[in-house]
Amino acid sequence: MACAHGLVEHDAGFSIDASSIVFGRGVLAEVGEHARALGVRRAAIFTDRRLAALEHVAIAKRALEAAGVDVAVYDDVAIEPTDASFLAAARFAREGRFDGYVSVGGGSVIDTCKAAALYATYPADFLTYVNAPVGAGSPVPGPLPPHVACPTTCGTGSETTGIAVCDVLALEAKTGIASRRLRPSLAIVDPACTRTLPASVVAASGFDVLCHALESYTARPHHARPRSTPASARPMSQGSNPWSDLGSLEALRLAGLYLERAVADASDDEAREKLTWAASLAGIAFGNAGVHLPHGMAYAVAGLVRDFEMPGYPEGAPLVPHGVSVVLSAPSVFRFTAPACPERHLEAARRLGALDPPGEARPNEAGEVLAAVLERLMRRTGIPHGLSGVGYVEADVDALVRGTIVQKRLLDNSPRPAGAPELEALFRGAM
Ligand SMILES: [Fe+2]
Repeated sequence: MACAHGLVEHDAGFSIDASSIVFGRGVLAEVGEHARALGVRRAAIFTDRRLAALEHVAIAKRALEAAGVDVAVYDDVAIEPTDASFLAAARFAREGRFDGYVSVGGGSVIDTCKAAALYATYPADFLTYVNAPVGAGSPVPGPLPPHVACPTTCGTGSETTGIAVCDVLALEAKTGIASRRLRPSLAIVDPACTRTLPASVVAASGFDVLCHALESYTARPHHARPRSTPASARPMSQGSNPWSDLGSLEALRLAGLYLERAVADASDDEAREKLTWAASLAGIAFGNAGVHLPHGMAYAVAGLVRDFEMPGYPEGAPLVPHGVSVVLSAPSVFRFTAPACPERHLEAARRLGALDPPGEARPNEAGEVLAAVLERLMRRTGIPHGLSGVGYVEADVDALVRGTIVQKRLLDNSPRPAGAPELEALFRGAM
């Protein structure tokens, strides 16, 4: 479809990349049979030190060995991966001569496994595959060996996407690699894994879920994006579309119903299971639509952390958990983006349980209504209040804007254009 001026050809189509998922309580014990069915004979299990001591890794290892798969465990995954930690994992992958990969953990673990498989299979300088403009953004040359991803948190959705996020240390930039070829061959999502998660981890990852859904649903529509040449190069961040809307809306409804309960009580199996399902749905949505400003700004918020530590996370290591870094600026962002598509902002708020009785708010109130329901949920689940709550001050705004302006893939997916002046206002609004 040509635009009104006839200068840019817009993309009337959208692509659906379906994820293969096995979901249910206890399915982690099936990982051996699934890996074997994918042709895996010798697998690397990726995990981190803390998880390696928990039963999840033992269950996966036993299941793989029982299915006749030879296994080696790599438990050196960094909580916030860097180029260096990705490359260390890739060295392990290359030297082990594996024909398949299994990741057991949160987003950092699954992302590290994706990168290890990539650099072990197609060795290159680190920046070769990293998103432009930080890296060269070169396409992944071919298919990767099977990767079975077993998430142990109810948030990242990394098991359903082709994205791996890391810090590039020398450039002080948080960015990533995005390619359909990085998408795991199969996700094994076992809600029983979330029972051991502390409340703060469920809250942080729950808001990651919620923002995946909100951002996919409010992203620039796919038909507003210039057409890709060739058509096979249509990006994963293609904007909101009817397929991603399905997952986003149901994920928002479930998050509205179950997030608070899942945080409040670790033994509330129903709430944690529903939130885990919402995470998978939101992962499918953002893997096919892309996220936008809250995630783009979060890279800078997480990357520039000074001394904030969140209870429930490793002590002595300053860290703004990913979901927290995303949601802190979300109310400020949605006040800003609402005029671009007020009905979508209102519908999202409705799904989250705002507007009872529904239909009372006017379009010009959409941003405020959505921001208010988010802020209420944040207060009730113990999320820090604004960027000042994790140690940022007004003097940090310039650095935060610099760290965000390079996230071109995400900024381009915003329903309302945001350059440096708009980002500055959004960060000030989020303080
Ligand atoms: Fe996220």
